[in-house]
Amino acid sequence: MSNPTHTLQKKIVVFASGSGTNAENIIKFFQKQPNASVVAVFSNKRSAKVLKRAHDLNVKALHFDRDALYNSYDVLHILEDINPDLIVLAGFMWIFPEDILKRFPNKIVNIHPALLPKYGGKGMYGMHVHEAIIQNKEKESGISIHYVNENYDEGEIIFQAKTDISEEDTPESLAEKIHKLEYKHFPEILQQLLQKKSQ
Ligand code: GAR
Repeated sequence: MSNPTHTLQKKIVVFASGSGTNAENIIKFFQKQPNASVVAVFSNKRSAKVLKRAHDLNVKALHFDRDALYNSYDVLHILEDINPDLIVLAGFMWIFPEDILKRFPNKIVNIHPALLPKYGGKGMYGMHVHEAIIQNKEKESGISIHYVNENYDEGEIIFQAKTDISEEDTPESLAEKIHKLEYKHFPEILQQLLQKKSQ
């Protein structure tokens, strides 16, 4: 017999380029929620640890290259088949192509490890962000969850959270503080977005 709650489940797809600790955290969070689940993880890097994390958690793990994302529409077509309710960029380092943005309006969100609009844009990702912030002796940093548009880190901001920076902080300790904020808030915000969509 079919499970009625299962058929109502919302579908989340995650894109990530590297380690994927956020992707893992999001997968585990939704494995405990009845209304949604992560159905696939995509990575542009074949060796990215995120693909193993997804596989180990029984989530479909897919690798694609530049051509499949930007020229052949292969990634777009797979996404159309899945028809996700949310596409989540969690440490994804390539610009998202316009055809996918147009096909899934208001469904693509990114997390950035700083308080946008500060420390965003091309080249500002991962440890580069934390290094610049420590070098400039900023007193605070944080996370920004935002909709994705055709420019790096410029879509409408959905949520921000802050953390203080002390004089002892290093890029590594700041990265740790930022990851903690990401783990705490990112899945919750995704859940809120999905619930808003159902209203
Ligand atoms: C996260 O801190 C995320 O905010 C950042 O990459 C890290 C990925 O960590 N994203 C960007 O810099 C995007 N511009 P993870 O692979 O452990 O989840």
